[in-house]
Amino acid sequence: MTVDSQEDIRKLFAAGRVVRGAFERMKRAARAGVSTAELDRIGGQYLQSHGARSAPQLYYDFPGATCISVNEEAAHGIPGPRRLADGDMLNIDVSAELAGYVADMGESFLVGRGTPEQEQLCYAVKAAVNAAIGKIRSGRSLNVIGKAVQKIADKFGYEIVENLGSHGVGNSIHEEPSYIPLDNPSEKRRLEEGLVLTIEPFFSTGVNWVEEQADGWTLSVNKGDLVAQFEQTLIVTRRGALVVTA
Ligand code: CO
Ligand code: CO
Repeated sequence: MTVDSQEDIRKLFAAGRVVRGAFERMKRAARAGVSTAELDRIGGQYLQSHGARSAPQLYYDFPGATCISVNEEAAHGIPGPRRLADGDMLNIDVSAELAGYVADMGESFLVGRGTPEQEQLCYAVKAAVNAAIGKIRSGRSLNVIGKAVQKIADKFGYEIVENLGSHGVGNSIHEEPSYIPLDNPSEKRRLEEGLVLTIEPFFSTGVNWVEEQADGWTLSVNKGDLVAQFEQTLIVTRRGALVVTA
């Protein structure tokens, strides 16, 4: 969507606060021995008690309130009986609709202590998002995002997953621009004032593609490879990005 009033902005921030609140409560509860279904219940109840509806449920009939992906799972993991273990790399992605406005955020992090390799991957993908956010100004090419992300991936030697990524959001969960590609110097589209979008690269240690699993939802890299995502929802302005999920 493109915001055109203070009310739009206020309501997007309200949706952003709710998804952030759900995420933080889930992250706090993510310890060895806890199941992903238990985490999902914490997030789902938080959304519900704040008057928000899970976007994956609302728009895609997803079998969970939030997406919880473990280790080689990159995205759209279904919450279930799996119990977390120390050293698991967990991705929690929370998106929700509140009063007609949708915000979307996600983060990969470690359960307990991880390896330096896992920690670096989580660090790098977050740094890439923050670098891209720093380049956002209305009037600039949409490619400032892909370019900033690519630069960080190259610096660390990671692959960027090509079949997942940033997208428009705001009135619904996935809007135009429906897919913001990797660094593409021939990109013609511009960042318009008021555009609402996510920035969410996925970095991997091995492959640039995720495969759908037999459950029809989970998208994974190969076993043994690592994958991490970081995601924020923001509004494009002349002066920079207003991050609504911070
Ligand atoms: Co998203
Ligand atoms: Co998301």
